Amino acid sequence: MAVKKVLRIGNPLLKTRCRSITEFDTSELHTLIQDMRDTMQAEQGAGLAAIQIGIPLRLVIFSVDANPRYPEAEPIPETVLINPVIEPVGTGMETDWEGCLSVPGLRGLVPRYQTIRYTGTDQYGQPIATTASGFHARVVQHEVDHLDGILYVERMQDMKSFGFVEELAAAGVFERQCIPCETSGE
Ligand code: NI
Repeated sequence: MAVKKVLRIGNPLLKTRCRSITEFDTSELHTLIQDMRDTMQAEQGAGLAAIQIGIPLRLVIFSVDANPRYPEAEPIPETVLINPVIEPVGTGMETDWEGCLSVPGLRGLVPRYQTIRYTGTDQYGQPIATTASGFHARVVQHEVDHLDGILYVERMQDMKSFGFVEELAAAGVFERQCIPCETSGE
């Protein structure tokens, strides 16, 4: 078990364009994924990109638990996604709250494609190709942005929604228990 320190906004590494992974099923890769898993669980994140623990590779992990905000959403078991490519399906966008383990304690409203198709591989090099909607699609878009050095705050269209969880909750802007917590990818 190795919980790593999560880099925070302002750290220049978070602006890195990460490198593709070319070797699969190596002990280094498995160790990195285990560290990411341990860190994500310790921080109760819904997702984590390798660069958030300082490793500039195109690797993300995420899982989607049952969430009252998305009653129709299928929970997604933990997924390792390497060298991901995202393609929007249609032009529909939706705006919802996001948080990020690299932007702790804060939330903001972010527009994302409602439905996407994503491809990539797992840690063994086996192909992954899935269509995702709603929260699942949001988490993947958030995580893949990390690989290009983009944080969710850069996707916000109205910075007036940006704020600390406690303040937003006190203002009644959202109900804390309903947030796709630290979510959308932390
Ligand atoms: Ni994040």
